[in-house]
Amino acid sequence: MKSIASLAVLLGLAQLAASSPAFVARRNDASSAAEAFNKETSAYTASSAFPTSMFASYYNTPASMTAEPRPVVTDVGRNSVFPDILANPTILPLGPSSSEAVYPVATGTASPDIVSQVRQEITDIFASSSSNCTKCTDALKTAQKLAQQSPQDVPALLIELCTKYKFKSASTCAKQYAPQVLGSVYAQVLSYANFSSGSTDAQYMCNVVVGSSFSNCSLPKPRLLDEAYLDDWFHGKRTPPSSYNLNVGEPTANGGNLRVLHMSDIHVDPRFFVGGEAACTNGRCCRADAYNSTLSSGNFTQGTLSRALSGANISESATYWGNFQCDAPWSLALSTLGAVTPLNGGHEVDMTIHTGDMVVHDLAQYISQDLVKYTHQSLYDSIRAMLGKGPVFNAIGNHDSAPSDFASQGALPDGRSDQLSWDWDNLARLWEAEGWFDHDEAEQVRSHYAGYSVTPRKGLRIVAINTDFWYKNNIFNMIHTSNPDYSGSLRFLTDELFHAEQRGERVWIVGHVLTGWDGSNPLDNPTNLFYQIVDRFAPHVIAHIFFGHTHEDQFNIFYANNGTSRAADQAKAVSFMAPSVTPGNNVNPALRIMHVNATTYEVMDYHQFYTQVPTFPDLPESSHGPVYEYLYSARQAYGNFTSSNANSTHPVDGGVWPQDAPLNATFWAKLTEEMAVRKELVQQFTVFQGRNSPRSPNCTSDECVSAKICYMQSGSAPLGKQCKQGYGSVQSS
Ligand SMILES: *[C@@H]1O[C@H](CO)[C@@H](O)[C@H](O)[C@H]1NC(C)=O
Ligand SMILES: *[C@@H]1O[C@H](CO)[C@@H](O)[C@H](O)[C@H]1NC(C)=O
Ligand SMILES: *[C@@H]1O[C@H](CO)[C@@H](O)[C@H](O)[C@H]1NC(C)=O
Ligand SMILES: *[C@@H]1O[C@H](CO)[C@@H](O)[C@H](O)[C@H]1NC(C)=O
Ligand SMILES: *[C@@H]1O[C@H](CO)[C@@H](O)[C@H](O)[C@H]1NC(C)=O
Ligand SMILES: *[C@@H]1O[C@H](CO)[C@@H](O)[C@H](O)[C@H]1NC(C)=O
Ligand SMILES: *[C@@H]1O[C@H](CO)[C@@H](O)[C@H](O)[C@H]1NC(C)=O
Ligand SMILES: *[C@@H]1O[C@H](CO)[C@@H](O)[C@H](O)[C@H]1NC(C)=O
Ligand SMILES: *[C@@H]1O[C@H](CO)[C@@H](O)[C@H](O)[C@H]1NC(C)=O
Ligand SMILES: *[C@@H]1O[C@H](CO)[C@@H](O)[C@H](O)[C@H]1NC(C)=O
Ligand SMILES: *[C@@H]1O[C@H](CO)[C@@H](O)[C@H](O)[C@H]1NC(C)=O
Ligand SMILES: *[C@@H]1O[C@H](CO)[C@@H](O)[C@H](O)[C@H]1NC(C)=O
Repeated sequence: MKSIASLAVLLGLAQLAASSPAFVARRNDASSAAEAFNKETSAYTASSAFPTSMFASYYNTPASMTAEPRPVVTDVGRNSVFPDILANPTILPLGPSSSEAVYPVATGTASPDIVSQVRQEITDIFASSSSNCTKCTDALKTAQKLAQQSPQDVPALLIELCTKYKFKSASTCAKQYAPQVLGSVYAQVLSYANFSSGSTDAQYMCNVVVGSSFSNCSLPKPRLLDEAYLDDWFHGKRTPPSSYNLNVGEPTANGGNLRVLHMSDIHVDPRFFVGGEAACTNGRCCRADAYNSTLSSGNFTQGTLSRALSGANISESATYWGNFQCDAPWSLALSTLGAVTPLNGGHEVDMTIHTGDMVVHDLAQYISQDLVKYTHQSLYDSIRAMLGKGPVFNAIGNHDSAPSDFASQGALPDGRSDQLSWDWDNLARLWEAEGWFDHDEAEQVRSHYAGYSVTPRKGLRIVAINTDFWYKNNIFNMIHTSNPDYSGSLRFLTDELFHAEQRGERVWIVGHVLTGWDGSNPLDNPTNLFYQIVDRFAPHVIAHIFFGHTHEDQFNIFYANNGTSRAADQAKAVSFMAPSVTPGNNVNPALRIMHVNATTYEVMDYHQFYTQVPTFPDLPESSHGPVYEYLYSARQAYGNFTSSNANSTHPVDGGVWPQDAPLNATFWAKLTEEMAVRKELVQQFTVFQGRNSPRSPNCTSDECVSAKICYMQSGSAPLGKQCKQGYGSVQSS
């Protein structure tokens, strides 16, 4: 079933296809959809014209490339249009409305002077001679009294203490801890967390949320998942079946591989301001209120934002197609989506894995439910129109909610589990309206925090989970910290894997936040459990794992026995982190097209495409838009193991990975062995990490090389944290 809005978009695409030579000229005959990689399709030049037919109407009609168009988007759920204030760069958005604040339910009767009592106690705690860690945990216990007795008073006291102790600037304290921004959610966590001795919640909160500048609490050791725990988790079925058939699917009509797009982290910025400061020192760059303090006082932001800076007051001008320190403008997002079919030889991809994060990075006070819904409605409609008939399987990212990063567990008291159901309901409705899910599948989305388990092709099961439940910035995770699965998501995943094992299906796990690498993003307990689940069900059930989040091209190997041995014959699964569409920060926008065997559902190769941000400033002078270029094939770039093969626990004939062998975990594990011998491969990997970004640091020192190999071999946070830190990202410049 299709919504009116989606239909309008589809009609728009028909016009676009007819008017854009790129869509027609590169169309090959159907038979060449087969394997051979076609050089003709190895680059695609986008049109300079905005595909205006994509949306029914616009709030503005900018002259070519002088400003970003602002589509009028209908909120189908509410049957009204989203207001222009969400996207108009010259007006500050209102942010969440006060009705979006969600407090815990008060327990007991509040003592009449509870606020002044708690204020005094906390002041005394901070004046004491205790260590900073003790001060922090003691203050939490005291604050809990207020949160439980009189939750509505929490935001004001948070703002007061934040300002008094200079945790942040006074104006940031006031904006961020306002009730409808973060204040009321903090009241919930203060109320529901267990701060009694013996619980780890306070220590987690002080280490992860408060941070090292105000508390020196160390992170509690990961909870021991002993034999008894794991036996119980797997219902006593710890041993996988001894034989298993991997050929569970059916061949494609043309006998070739499936083409599957892996796309991630679009982060469209609807308030992108062409001509604004792109190298700013305040808030978000490429905005009308952005400035660089070396060149501007910033005083102009006091009045109307339309008095933008110019000339000598600008360090780097925000270009129509985007900049390295900014999220994707509409022009870039749509030209990237338009590149997919041409880059696939003129044929629509068979399906898409989209690993989340569509909403712009912004200050907490500007992230509203309306902004999230506007972004999802407009981008999903665009994806549907641009990619065509292939289904799209989405993971919810940490930026796909309001407030960002937050997901509330089903077990929260007082019905507070439902506070983000507006989001999960909206995604369910959209994914059904776009034609990707039937009604029953959409119902799963509503009841699984936007997660689901579906079978789009014979023998293939896609299980998506909301990975905010292992993201360290989801403050709800500070409740019941010793439970690796307080949300029940990993229970759901495990049960689906058991079913898949019984039915003889192969599974792709899809999520947003990665589980391992340097361990800086995820939490220890859930990812430690996830690693054991992967060990139990790979490789016979789990064929692949797809994540995003870091904006960088990365992979993680999962080994048997919790990674005790990192020999290639111990490798069981691999997760792929797709590079981002957004150029933020300091990476070139990218798309990945995978070639997947249609009976085993294993990736045989992938082709990485990208476009170069440094070319964007000159594009308005030319007659075309961004050029999408070929970057590399995983098999060609990495498949030669001649230097390490003899010593490998999994040697292959001649050292070169056989053409008919999939790029499974063994391939990637052998690559890390080869990297240890040929260190230049780690530098090659680093260039791919940022897609040829001139701002990526090199990785040639022995310390960097071994740290990166260690990250690749670490599929959980506890394992990643054992690696030398500091080399994980290429985004700092
Ligand atoms: C809080 O944690 C302690 C220590 O683990 C435990 O004994 C107690 O039962 C917990 N309280 C609640 C309400 O869960
Ligand atoms: C304790 O925190 C204060 C800030 O509140 C900081 O100035 C001080 O350096 C910290 N002390 C230690 C030992 O970390
Ligand atoms: C925090 O700092 C205090 C004072 O320097 C010290 O006594 C205490 O051991 C530290 N705690 C942790 C967990 O590092
Ligand atoms: C896996 O290894 C990590 C790092 O040593 C450890 O913290 C964790 O407890 C181990 N997990 C299991 C299930 O043994
Ligand atoms: C897919 O894999 C199976 C099993 O290895 C193989 O028999 C088949 O030829 C492969 N399909 C293609 C299109 O290569
Ligand atoms: C601010 O502008 C100066 C001068 O152009 C530049 O060197 C600096 O990198 C800019 N700051 C940022 C954060 O980009
Ligand atoms: C622009 O720069 C000039 C001189 O460098 C300075 O006097 C002026 O205040 C700046 N304008 C703004 C709006 O920052
Ligand atoms: C800001 O600029 C206005 C004029 O545009 C001026 O009247 C005012 O004094 C300036 N404020 C500061 C703090 O510089
Ligand atoms: C990967 O494929 C190779 C070649 O088919 C096979 O020998 C190996 O066991 C596979 N590894 C895994 C983890 O499935
Ligand atoms: C693999 O690398 C070796 C050593 O550099 C080289 O001799 C060989 O030709 C390469 N094989 C392929 C298929 O690229
Ligand atoms: C294989 O390992 C042995 C012993 O560790 C070492 O002496 C030899 O140089 C290695 N050979 C290669 C090709 O890496
Ligand atoms: C990385 O190395 C290349 C080649 O040696 C060099 O051109 C480039 O400037 C280096 N980049 C950085 C950030 O050092």
